[in-house]
Amino acid sequence: MTVKNKVIIVTGASSGIGLASAKLLSREGARVALVSRSREKLENLASLLPNSFAVPADMSVVTEIKSLVQKVYDHFHKIDILVNNAGRGYAASVEKIDIAKYNQLFNLNVIGPLVAMQTVIPIMRSGGGGCIINISSGTSLMHLPNLEAYASTKRVINGISLTAREELAKDKINVSVVYPYITNTNFGQNMIGEEIRSSSINNQNTKLPPGDAPEYVAEKILEAITCEKPEIYAHEWMGNRLSN
Ligand SMILES: NC(=O)c1ccc[n+]([C@@H]2O[C@H](COP(=O)([O-])OP(=O)(O)OC[C@H]3O[C@@H](n4cnc5c(N)ncnc54)[C@H](OP(=O)(O)O)[C@@H]3O)[C@@H](O)[C@H]2O)c1
Repeated sequence: MTVKNKVIIVTGASSGIGLASAKLLSREGARVALVSRSREKLENLASLLPNSFAVPADMSVVTEIKSLVQKVYDHFHKIDILVNNAGRGYAASVEKIDIAKYNQLFNLNVIGPLVAMQTVIPIMRSGGGGCIINISSGTSLMHLPNLEAYASTKRVINGISLTAREELAKDKINVSVVYPYITNTNFGQNMIGEEIRSSSINNQNTKLPPGDAPEYVAEKILEAITCEKPEIYAHEWMGNRLSN
């Protein structure tokens, strides 16, 4: 799908990958609905991006998600594309996963994107089609110590996305998953699990290649929208992890 003149919801648009994506999609001529909890940041951004619309909402609260979709529809009278990007990490060993925190993470990383999909699907179907991009993580393709709580939420998103893709093809609604690699955003600081987060995803002692700029991942999201492939990796080598 092309993005020019399309109405696109970008969740997590106040920072990192979502912010870079909102800017890129706007430059490409889209009308972008900017979603996150930070009203002021979104309103400032909306003042810079032509035809954009700030819609503050907590993506872990079902009623707020339904309400934000309705506000976007009332404002633009259609929704063409949803980029489900808002998310957080959580660092804890399996033994120490705190169930309350895991529930909180699951609500944001899984239930939020799922409810957003369920709410936009009938709108897209009645509009003749659409596109849903779900942001996963390279960690969902691996088994990294201290990151399983987070990775498991992204594995659920992978499954939901690829199954919905099969179910919605008849409605001309394309669903794709984008797998970022380590990306230089505030993700590390925003992770739950103070005690070990600094030694997990941001480990300076590993031999992993350096992280990507959020603008690089935004290009991958644009590519996912336009090429309509099921899965887009920040780097091709990440795809090989699936068969290893
Ligand atoms: N950075 C990485 O290394 C990396 C790697 C793989 C995948 N990812 C994925 O990429 C996505 C974006 O992460 P990022 O790296 O850009 O992190 P980030 O800089 O921390 O941005 C996260 C965004 O999500 C929003 N958000 C957090 N909680 C929210 C809530 N309850 N309701 C609504 N919005 C909420 C934040 O806005 P507010 O605080 O204003 O609500 C912010 O805009 C996430 O799904 C993450 O899992 C990141």
